[in-house]
Amino acid sequence: MAMTALVTGASAGLGAELARQLAADGFRLVLVARDRARLEALAASLAVPCEVLPADLTVPDDLQRVAARLADPARPVDVLVSNAGFGIAAELADSDPADERRLLELLAWAPLRLSQAALPGMLVRGRGGILTVASLAGLLPTGSYAAAKAHAIALSRSIAAQHRADGIRATALLPGFVRTEFHERMGLRRTGVPAIAWADAADVAREGLAGLRRGRAVVVSDWRYRLVRPVLPLVPDRMLGRWTMRRLDPR
Ligand SMILES: NC(=O)c1ccc[n+]([C@@H]2O[C@H](COP(=O)([O-])OP(=O)(O)OC[C@H]3O[C@@H](n4cnc5c(N)ncnc54)[C@H](OP(=O)(O)O)[C@@H]3O)[C@@H](O)[C@H]2O)c1
Repeated sequence: MAMTALVTGASAGLGAELARQLAADGFRLVLVARDRARLEALAASLAVPCEVLPADLTVPDDLQRVAARLADPARPVDVLVSNAGFGIAAELADSDPADERRLLELLAWAPLRLSQAALPGMLVRGRGGILTVASLAGLLPTGSYAAAKAHAIALSRSIAAQHRADGIRATALLPGFVRTEFHERMGLRRTGVPAIAWADAADVAREGLAGLRRGRAVVVSDWRYRLVRPVLPLVPDRMLGRWTMRRLDPR
């Protein structure tokens, strides 16, 4: 019988790409994001049964609806992909506290709550996968986005470590810069960061799903960032801390 994957942030960018690749692997899909029309268009373009579940994951009732869908024993979800996210262009001293709260809720609380909802059924079935799209920023001292992603990485690693023997795979995917709508939605251009630093969403999604299949706890996507990663602990925090969104030019 075909397996089912639930993908958050499936209306655009990496989430849409992850959904397409899961569909190509034969997964049925539950597509989650705020934009119903875009989710429906994606569902119509895929050759597998798709459920469209519009939700703003920073709204408690919406998050609870998605959690309830994951926990429904009558409609098991085999793979959870926690991918929805956004960034804030302003730094902590200047940003809006309401935006910071939404950021933390979407990047840290939602993956925790959805993993918590998915796990009991996966444990009963003795199998399941959780792919959390974090960021290489989660390894850096670059602000509140990085801190929220660090939480997501630590949680995903914990699930991998504590439930591997139960048949559960958990992978934290750590992309560097990826060509999606992410920076445009923040009101930023891609200039300011060299063209070579930008990865394709399809490649990043492929590496994340391959890592999940292989049971890798942490996947740094793209060879360029895999080269950079071992050097990061050698670089002083005050230098790493400059790698904020300020490097990108406003639109
Ligand atoms: N692009 C990069 O350079 C990069 C690098 C490292 C990590 N990441 C991470 O990759 C993930 C995907 O981002 P992306 O690059 O694909 O960005 P994107 O193209 O802007 O897509 C973001 C997705 O998240 C959804 N979303 C945003 N707010 C939401 C909310 N409150 N509730 C539900 N869904 C919401 C959006 O859909 P709706 O607007 O329809 O809700 C959209 O589907 C994020 O977690 C991001 O932090 C991106």
